[in-house]
Formats: sequence, C-alpha cells, structure tokens
Amino acid sequence: MNLDTSSVAVITGASSGLGAALATDLAAKGCQVVLVARREDKLRAVADLITQNGGRATCIVADVAQESHCERVIRQVIADFGRIDVLINNAGRGNMNSVEDTPTEQWRSMFAVNVDSIFWLTARALPHMRQANAGSIVAISSVAGRYGHPYNAAYVAAKHAVVGFIAALRTELVGTGINATVICPAGIITEWGDVTEGGSIGALYGQAIPRSRTIARDRSLATAPLSRMMSAQECSKIIIEAIEAGRGDDVFTHAGTKDIAVQTVQDRCAQEDRFEALWVAMAEAYHAQRGTS
Ligand SMILES: NC(=O)c1ccc[n+]([C@@H]2O[C@H](COP(=O)([O-])OP(=O)(O)OC[C@H]3O[C@@H](n4cnc5c(N)ncnc54)[C@H](OP(=O)(O)O)[C@@H]3O)[C@@H](O)[C@H]2O)c1
Repeated sequence: MNLDTSSVAVITGASSGLGAALATDLAAKGCQVVLVARREDKLRAVADLITQNGGRATCIVADVAQESHCERVIRQVIADFGRIDVLINNAGRGNMNSVEDTPTEQWRSMFAVNVDSIFWLTARALPHMRQANAGSIVAISSVAGRYGHPYNAAYVAAKHAVVGFIAALRTELVGTGINATVICPAGIITEWGDVTEGGSIGALYGQAIPRSRTIARDRSLATAPLSRMMSAQECSKIIIEAIEAGRGDDVFTHAGTKDIAVQTVQDRCAQEDRFEALWVAMAEAYHAQRGTS
C-alpha cells in the first residue's frame, strides 16, 4: 500500500522500543500517526520528537488490555481523522515463570495484552477499512509464536494465538483491499526483556547463553542457533517494507528464523533438540535464581 500524507496509522505500544521506531518511521513517510500506550510522559516524548522533525503525531493514553479502552481508541481516531489506514498491534509484554510457577492472573494478563487487545482493536477498525476497501492490519507476534521457549509459556501460547488469529483473518479478507500481516521477530534491543512479568527473562537469557556454550562443549551438543539481536529501527524498516509491499504475509525479521519455524513444523522434537544445551542452561539459571531444584 502507498503510505503518504493521506494515511492515518495507529500504533499501539508506541511509548518505547519497536512501537516508537514504527511511529517515527511512518511519520517520516508523511503519515498522520496516532500513538497509543499507558505511559503518557513517554508517549508525549515520542510524539514531540516526531513533531519537531516535521511529522504529525497525536497520542491516546490507553490500556489495550481493556476492551473499553480499545473501543475508545478506534472511536477517537475516526472522530479525529475520519479514517484508519494502518493498524499496528504492537503493544505486548512477556512473562518469566515456569508453568507451575505461573499465577493465573499472569496467564490471563499475557492473553489480555498480547491477544485480546488485537481482537478488540482489529474488530473495531475493520468496518472502517471495509468501507474504504483498503487498509493494513499488522500484528507483532514473535518467534515465540512459532516455536517453544522455556519459562514463558503464557507468552509463547499468547504469541502462537496471534499467528492463528491473523491467519484466520486473512482468509476472511480474501477479495478485499485489506491486508493482514503477522510479524515474527527474534531478539530486539528494547525494554521488553527487562519488564517481563515475574522477573527479567532478558537476565535469564543473559546468564544462560554463555553457560549453554560450555554445556554444549562438555556434552557434545549443538550450540543453539540464536540469531543476532536487532535494533528497533532495523526491525521497523522491515515491517514498513512489508506494509508497503501490500501483500498480507507472515514476516520473519531475523535471518535464519523462518528456517527454524519450517523445521519445527516438519519435526518439532528434532528442532527442540538443537536448542538442548540452552534449555539445560536456562533451567540451571532459573532454579538458581529461585533457589529451587
Ligand atoms: N524485544 C524483543 O526481543 C521482542 C521479540 C519478539 C517480539 N517482540 C514483541 O514486539 C512488541 C514490541 O515490544 P518491544 O520489544 O518494543 O518492547 P517494549 O519496549 O517493552 O514495548 C512494549 C510497548 O507495549 C506497551 N504496552 C505494554 N502493555 C500495554 C498495555 N496494557 N496497554 C498499552 N500499551 C501497552 C508499552 O507501553 P506502556 O508501558 O507505556 O503502556 C510499550 O510501549 C511486543 O509485542 C513484543 O512482545 C519483542
């Protein structure tokens, strides 16, 4: 699709990380951007930077884990601009707990912010896109939406649900001018790994990755095929290219991750075996941290 000064783009989770980069890049293309998140000060700082650089940005403070807030977001965008061309469902949060340590509230919270929000916002934006017979719906899932990772099963399950939701939506959009795209990034350098509910999964990986190399050597196991961490700016460029390409698709931003997803479909156990040294190191780090065994 053509992104220009007539385009209105709504980006959730725009107060930091990937969402802030997407908002900045879309505004640089001339789009009117609507930034959505809970932390008003951070949201305004991103919007101010955009306007200082000649872009057009407005903010809506909202908690997308609540249906009434999602409803308000779309209502306000239509009232202010009369259209919605791009909806980027980017807001998301991870967790860090073993399955048995995961409180029910945390499980529900992972689904509310990562999945329910996408359903609520998309369902309310779609009638406006259908009227225009144009639009782009993007959802940020993760490689965690394609294959398993330990100590964040609630997040992994939620991100798998995002992939399924967008795949189903695409089949409903056949023959329309509306695209639905799911993005599956691996590591992006943002706040994400530090603010996971239940503890920092970033710190867990930070401890486990070097240890996994020793385990791999000592036990003659493969070293986990991890991809390079990407900046939010690099990742944003790939996502915007996908929107402009105008073809709803599943997008893997990091080199090698699509191959792992394909191998997972072909033989999940074999794929999981390739990460064994990392899973062992993560178990060690998790239990050392919790004082359990
Ligand atoms: N970083 C990675 O390695 C990685 C890898 C794969 C996928 N992802 C996904 O990429 C997306 C962007 O994450 P990021 O890496 O940019 O992390 P981030 O810097 O932590 O950004 C997350 C954003 O989501 C917003 N958010 C969280 N809960 C919200 C809520 N209830 N209502 C409204 N906004 C909410 C946060 O804003 P407020 O706190 O101000 O509300 C923040 O702007 C997420 O969906 C994440 O799961 C990240």
